[in-house]
Amino acid sequence: MSVLITNIGELVTNSAPALHDAALVIEDAAVAWTGPAAGAPAADEMVDAAGRAVLPGFVDSHAHLVFAGERGAEFAARMAGQPYRAGGIRSTVAATRAASDAELRANLARLAAELLAQGTTTFECKSGYGLTVADESRSVALAAEVTPEVTYLGAHVVPPEFDADPAGYVELVCGPMLTACAPHARWVDVFCERGAFDGDQARAVLAAGRAAGLLPRVHANQLGPGPGVQVAVEAGAASADHCTFLTDADVDALASSDTVATLLPGVEFSTRQPYPDARRLLESGATVAIATDCNPGSCFTSSMPFCIALAVREMRMTTEEAVAAATAGGAAALRRPDVGHLGVGARADLLMLDAPSHAYLAYRPGVPLIHSVWQSGALAQQ
Ligand code: NIG
Ligand code: FE
Repeated sequence: MSVLITNIGELVTNSAPALHDAALVIEDAAVAWTGPAAGAPAADEMVDAAGRAVLPGFVDSHAHLVFAGERGAEFAARMAGQPYRAGGIRSTVAATRAASDAELRANLARLAAELLAQGTTTFECKSGYGLTVADESRSVALAAEVTPEVTYLGAHVVPPEFDADPAGYVELVCGPMLTACAPHARWVDVFCERGAFDGDQARAVLAAGRAAGLLPRVHANQLGPGPGVQVAVEAGAASADHCTFLTDADVDALASSDTVATLLPGVEFSTRQPYPDARRLLESGATVAIATDCNPGSCFTSSMPFCIALAVREMRMTTEEAVAAATAGGAAALRRPDVGHLGVGARADLLMLDAPSHAYLAYRPGVPLIHSVWQSGALAQQ
């Protein structure tokens, strides 16, 4: 079964310059052909894009979707002048522990549907609001029902019952909790930040995760300068996420490694922090990704289009750079060569905008522009 999408106003593939008056053929769930509409081969079915733009589906490489409760009052207090504190995570931990599997599953399904409706075809999902062996293992198991990109984040914060024994909590995270979670996860993550885990604790968590077959990624340099980026690069992490407070040495380390700098501008929007310096990272040669960080505390958006608009307006990325970071960048941050681009052979994960060019994602912020979405060649959303 093949599908020809033709009359595409702008086709962004990330594997060649954008094409105008273009067409794309899907066959067996993969991209089989791209080129000028006039030269397109015949196919079993035809879709007329009527001049709309077609882009790779968004790859959201950072999201915390397994949780219960909400923190709207904390957001309102921040907007009234309170600072963001990592400690708010504990209130979501209490709500998540108290929730049934069915409640967590329903919340997860609702958020996964929001992501898809906004053009996201691949997303990562972290645990980190359970923080007991049982609650973390059910979190990763539930996440695995909705995505293959599951991240074990037992090292999110030290839970209250370990206040007097943070070292004991790190032992739990590196021991029995990891053993219970590793079968459901691909990644291990640690929140390396003052108030969460220091550099040595983060190294221990990543090493234990790696020994259990998980690949490392790190929450780094979100709330202030610190060792997160260096720990990530030393560990060969796929990504260092946040990167808001970086030294020149941090930027150099990212630029000379294959650790992606994942920027989460929705967090700075929702916490009134300064945005990361995307231009400095791009100009250094680092690979940059954009993701939502969707979570109930620091940033409760599931919208990659919103994050693209912020990246363009607030971080001075060009519209092309922002879309590339939200697609190919996210794929690099998840080490997924099959997604994030529409080269021949790529998984046919793509979206059609109700607009003639990718730039409309920032030019018309807040407007629902996703016309339709294909996942593995099948129409998933219209
Ligand atoms: O990525 N930084 C740590 N974790 C989340 C915040 C989670 C929360 O506040 O609940 C983040 O920003
Ligand atoms: Fe996060």
